[in-house]
Amino acid sequence: MKKIAIPAFGFIFISILLLGMNSQQPGKAGDAALGTRKYDDFQTPQFCGTSCHTDIYQQWKQAMMSQAYTHHWDEIEYFKLAVPHAEKDQMVAGVKAGCNGCHAPIAFLAGDVPPPLPSANSRANESVSCEVCHTITGFAGDTPYNFNWISEPGKTKYGPRVGKNSPEHDLVKSEFLGKAEFCGTCHNEKSPYGAWVKSTHLEWKEGPYAAQGVKCHDCHMTYAEGKTAAMGNIYPDARQHLFHGAHDPGKVRGTIELRIHPDIREAEPGEKIKFTIALFNQKTGHKFPTGSVEDRIVWMQVEAVDAKGKTYHLPVDKKGFPGEEYTIGADALAYQDMGIALGDPNFPGVQRDGVPIGDRIFRMAYFDPQGRMTIQQWNTKSFGVDYRIGPRETKLETCTFTLPFDIAPGPLKVTAVLNYQKLIKPVADFLGVPAEEAEIIQVNDHSTAITVLQ
Ligand code: HEC
Ligand code: HEC
Ligand code: HEC
Ligand code: HEC
Repeated sequence: MKKIAIPAFGFIFISILLLGMNSQQPGKAGDAALGTRKYDDFQTPQFCGTSCHTDIYQQWKQAMMSQAYTHHWDEIEYFKLAVPHAEKDQMVAGVKAGCNGCHAPIAFLAGDVPPPLPSANSRANESVSCEVCHTITGFAGDTPYNFNWISEPGKTKYGPRVGKNSPEHDLVKSEFLGKAEFCGTCHNEKSPYGAWVKSTHLEWKEGPYAAQGVKCHDCHMTYAEGKTAAMGNIYPDARQHLFHGAHDPGKVRGTIELRIHPDIREAEPGEKIKFTIALFNQKTGHKFPTGSVEDRIVWMQVEAVDAKGKTYHLPVDKKGFPGEEYTIGADALAYQDMGIALGDPNFPGVQRDGVPIGDRIFRMAYFDPQGRMTIQQWNTKSFGVDYRIGPRETKLETCTFTLPFDIAPGPLKVTAVLNYQKLIKPVADFLGVPAEEAEIIQVNDHSTAITVLQ
């Protein structure tokens, strides 16, 4: 090995220069922040949570924020699909580092990409830690997206209250942390093809809640009387670090209210009855589903049960809008672009939906540059029709049922159920994602009855 001689004064000069850069230069944002910090610039969540912020720590521990890097599906998608894809396709090469800008921000800032596997138990596993958020001072540009937050680690922590009430750090009151734009820096994402593949904050911004001043925090970091530190004051509005969303069935349940009614209450075999279902989004501040829209599937299943217990599946009536075929359960293959990462260019794909054929799906399809449906948001160039349910929106669906001639006379009970899956089941099965990620969560249901005449 050759030794590189650096004159002593040169070394000192470079050191001072680097030091100056670290402490005086404002923090960089987005892609430009890669490798601009060290792991040691940030405290561990255990440090924050062991003796002082014990309660907040326990809340954070069981929220997805603490698992953004280690969660099974994140690990599988990053290491099995994104990293190999980034190595084969120059267009998406940036995601190898970029995924970590939101999922393992400290590893990203330390330039440790790809980070070690979660099993190595490195500091990347801290995911979106206390110090990620509480060192953020603002964001670059006009629109928050693609981790364009600015982190300024150090003794000063940013939060909702002012004061020097802790021996450990100085507190600076940050208006920014209390704003929806703060969340938007990670909850809006643009793909390398310029498509808005995540737009939770943008959806919120154009919806009714933003207009009324109801922000993300009001539903995901709610306020309660309590302490924010073990030895601290009791506040009437201590911020709860719940961050509950798709991974909390209780949060998802009841998001949509369903009401089903028939056009006539009595009919003979051979007659047609039209059932109308109203689906009202009473709970989300953004569309439903939002965020990882490429993975999620929400579908409505309508069934009739006659007096003898025989069940009939009622497919939804088509409305005839462009792109509707992606909003109705079908026997079709999709997601062929997973073959790029898996080294199988002729990969035929897997089932697109995995839900009953003919059921209405509330979704927005993501398309790869070849126009095929994809769950790889980084490989998304365009979208299908946006048929999700907006905040406070009501969608009406109909199912027309021609009573079969052998249907049992008497009461006919008709039930509409709205189901939700975090990850399309055929994709979960194919990639070996644990079953919990594709569990069916029932959002809501409602029944009505008619009488079948003799
Ligand atoms: C530094 C980036 C970052 C910031 C800032 C951020 N988040 Fe997140 N958030 C994430 C990531 C990454 C996940 C996904 C974790 C996973 O499932 O892998 C997530 C997950 C969530 C979830 C859980 C979703 C689920 O699937 O269960 C909620 C709710 C949430 N964030 C709300 C917020 C709110 C509200 C704010 C602002 C107060 C915010 N986030 C700020 C990165 C961020
Ligand atoms: C995803 C970002 C995020 C993460 C991760 C996060 N916080 Fe917070 N924290 C916030 C926001 C946002 C607020 C409230 C800001 C506001 O309302 O103006 C807050 C508020 C606080 C407060 C003040 C509460 C009050 O009501 O005075 C403390 C203390 C705190 N966080 C500690 C922690 C600790 C400790 C952790 C890690 C275990 C943590 N935070 C993780 C975003 C985060
Ligand atoms: C009026 C209450 C409300 C507001 C305001 C709100 N949310 Fe939600 N959010 C919900 C509910 C309810 C759910 C659960 C249903 C769902 O998954 O969409 C949810 C789900 C989520 C999820 C998981 C979505 C998924 O399908 O994976 C994320 C992420 C999220 N919210 C982030 C945000 C962010 C960021 C903001 C602000 C820009 C915000 N929310 C504003 C109520 C709200
Ligand atoms: C701009 C920030 C951002 C970037 C960049 C980003 N993500 Fe995410 N990711 C999020 C947020 C926020 C969520 C949670 C959204 C939700 O719950 O709906 C999420 C959710 C996910 C999920 C679903 C987690 C679950 O359990 O449902 C996976 C998997 C994932 N991301 C992988 C990746 C990969 C791989 C990359 C890089 C190609 C990437 N992400 C890039 C912010 C980001």
